[in-house]
Amino acid sequence: LVRRVAEESLVVPDFASFCTEIDQLYAELLTDTRGAVADYIPQLARVDPDQFAIAVCTVDGQRHVVGDASSKFCVQSVSKAVSYCLALEEHGPDVVHQHIGREPSGVSFNSLTLNKSGRPHNPMINAGAIMSCSLIKPKDNLADRFDHVSDTWKRLAGGRPVGFHNSVYLSERDTADRNFALGYSMREQHAFPAGTDLVQTLEFYFQSCSVELDAEMMAIAAATFADGGICPLTGDKVFNTQTVQHCLSLMSSCGMYDFSGEFAFTIGLPAKSGVSGALMVVVPGLMGICVWSPRLGNTVRGIEFCRKLVERYNVHPH
Ligand code: DON
Repeated sequence: LVRRVAEESLVVPDFASFCTEIDQLYAELLTDTRGAVADYIPQLARVDPDQFAIAVCTVDGQRHVVGDASSKFCVQSVSKAVSYCLALEEHGPDVVHQHIGREPSGVSFNSLTLNKSGRPHNPMINAGAIMSCSLIKPKDNLADRFDHVSDTWKRLAGGRPVGFHNSVYLSERDTADRNFALGYSMREQHAFPAGTDLVQTLEFYFQSCSVELDAEMMAIAAATFADGGICPLTGDKVFNTQTVQHCLSLMSSCGMYDFSGEFAFTIGLPAKSGVSGALMVVVPGLMGICVWSPRLGNTVRGIEFCRKLVERYNVHPH
């Protein structure tokens, strides 16, 4: 970053004005109280719905956060992007996609549907993420597998330690009939790799959803995706370029569940949402963004932020 400042080659040269715009968008969106917190996981229903943070990190490490910067939240379904990358890094796309499709499903994230081959439609919905989890270090014990996931988040987020929300995890596990049903349905179709322990896989999936970060950490992780897998703060190559390409493609087509087509049409950026209200947005080659606001159908303020961003800046890639 210091070198880029000296050479006057920053990717966002007038970062201060950009930050002022972000602060203005934040103020505009603060009054938008549409939507409600997710209540199908009791512990998530208790989250203060008015919390709101926006964080950005450029691929050369310039950062800005506005709002509830120090609050931590669960990554929830944003974990699906990371789990998919970990499965790809371990097995490559050919093996991974023997178990998971790569077409949008057009239905809600937890829908009890599989594709014609009895496989999840894609890795960005529950069935697909459960399948990705089954592919991550399957021979290791659960503790080591979880360390692998949380260590990856830490590396993506610039080396900052990540948290874990135990009560959300326990609460999710106790109310997970739908995910168990998906797991058993996939097992019935012989969709899992041989030797998969289904209950352990589901535990691992719930735990991966309960990893906790703050908005700045998620923006740094998004910037790592924006820079082809290299963390802008540490230079750590967390994922291969090809892994990131595959993940961003599927985030673009499937990352917003049954809103993915509309999001791709209007915003055009790879993104992944979670029921905690987290939204990770990648502007490839430029920056990562996190918007966190717990009021949902995908986070209302998150979507509105993206709409306003593409109105003001030429970041829609098409
Ligand atoms: O499987 C579940 O129900 C959650 N732990 C994850 C769902 C999620 O975040 C969907 N997001 N929008």
